[in-house]
Amino acid sequence: MKRIRISDLLALTAEEYRALPEYRDMEGTALVKGWVRSKRGSKGIFFIALNDGSTIKNVQIVGDDDKFDADTLRRITTGACLSVTGKLVESPAAGQNVEIQAQDIQILGDCDNTYPLQKKGASWEYLRTVAHLRPRTNTFGAILRIRHNMAMAIHTYFHQHGYFYFHTPLITASDCEGAGQMFQVTTKNLYDLRKDENGNIIYTDDFFGKQTSLTVSGQLEGELGATALGAIYTFGPTFRAENSNTPRHLAEFWMIEPEVAFMDLEELMDLEEDFIKYCVRWALDNCRDDLEFLNKMVDKGLIERLQGVINEDFVRLPYTEGIRILQEAIKAGRKFEFPCQWGDDLASEHERYLVEEYFRKPVIMTHYPKKIKAFYMKIDDEKPVLDGKQMEQTVQGTDVLFPSIGEIIGGSVREESYDKLMGEIESRGIPMKDMTWYLDTRKYGSCPHAGFGLGFERLILFVTGMQNIRDVIPFPRTPRNAEF
Ligand code: 4AD
Ligand code: MG
Repeated sequence: MKRIRISDLLALTAEEYRALPEYRDMEGTALVKGWVRSKRGSKGIFFIALNDGSTIKNVQIVGDDDKFDADTLRRITTGACLSVTGKLVESPAAGQNVEIQAQDIQILGDCDNTYPLQKKGASWEYLRTVAHLRPRTNTFGAILRIRHNMAMAIHTYFHQHGYFYFHTPLITASDCEGAGQMFQVTTKNLYDLRKDENGNIIYTDDFFGKQTSLTVSGQLEGELGATALGAIYTFGPTFRAENSNTPRHLAEFWMIEPEVAFMDLEELMDLEEDFIKYCVRWALDNCRDDLEFLNKMVDKGLIERLQGVINEDFVRLPYTEGIRILQEAIKAGRKFEFPCQWGDDLASEHERYLVEEYFRKPVIMTHYPKKIKAFYMKIDDEKPVLDGKQMEQTVQGTDVLFPSIGEIIGGSVREESYDKLMGEIESRGIPMKDMTWYLDTRKYGSCPHAGFGLGFERLILFVTGMQNIRDVIPFPRTPRNAEF
């Protein structure tokens, strides 16, 4: 007999089930397999809540104690894996169409009382210590199904909009963000490193014949794709050896990076906004049960906040205007821990003030000071004016700032002028020998283009209402933690 997934089963009435071609001959007998969430009993009848991971919902198994041997009944414990055959009937209980009247129960896997997930209401911290088992909890099941759905939304969005999925390398010799936060990749014997007369490690005999690292971003190679295929996106793991122990940073995270030829700043912001809204709408349309669960158990304002985001226009705010608003707030008595002068990188308290207090909606901040952004961003023609004074050069960078998350997207129009880009590379001291292949995009048929990077886990944080990025990826990598 064929097993039916619990999500499929619960979508049907008992009559609809009996009419399915593959199950018609069994006259309503169903076979389900899954893990026991709970078992209770009264007056010689037992009730098992069985879950197979296909949905947040459990199927209820009902049986008479005297039809089963005592040993089987004893082994039906929380976490045990069962195969259950029985008759599918309309359920008298509220909240479910159907339940199964058990005829045969096989114990596929016992689960004794050392099972770490026996108690309900364990803390997030505790669950991280058992990350190998936490996908079996209701909350992590919901998060991981939503995570899958967001990946499907992303591929569907780009495919439908004519973007090609472009695979950029994970091992690279260039530092895209120029922040020097890369994990080295080497096969060298670390106990016996050869150095030249200046004390530098010799890499010519290393695996790749030069120093290599795990990528921090696929953007530079993505630009090669965009200037050939027109519009591409990447979706893969990226690695940052930044020592940031925050609820928003991982050392290994997934990034989505579209890159588009002939796209200008306005079109870039339109793409950023449309794309995020599409993903959020997908979650509301396809992950209803899981969102309702999270809305009840984790974050009471979740669904309302998601609906809010798809219904309102994002604010588009030049950095200089943002600084003006912040300085006015300070004059009016608002206290911040960090200063915010024109030229400073905004601290997260400043971003939160703008997004959560001042505008109360997502903000796309643009035209940042050149010196706080990466070398590849297109330099603005005009310098901004603040309080009657002309400020320094700005670039066409965009950060999308979200309530409770902060920066969810970083992107920009790219500098397409060979000479201007060379000027930045030289003045920032970026080693040129590693960049010739990138400069060829500007040397041969250069074109205006733009793109962005969305942190996948930051999107999942927003969509699930979870607070810590360690809890939206199955196996988080953070400073001093690489378990499992
Ligand atoms: O702003 P970032 O550093 O931009 C880039 O890497 C560009 N090359 C992207 C591009 O234009 N193609 O990173 C992009 C996004 C951030 O906005 C954030 O959402 C996420 O990646 N991110 C992280 N997510 C989790 N952990 C970290 N340590 C992250 N660092 C960045
Ligand atoms: Mg950024």
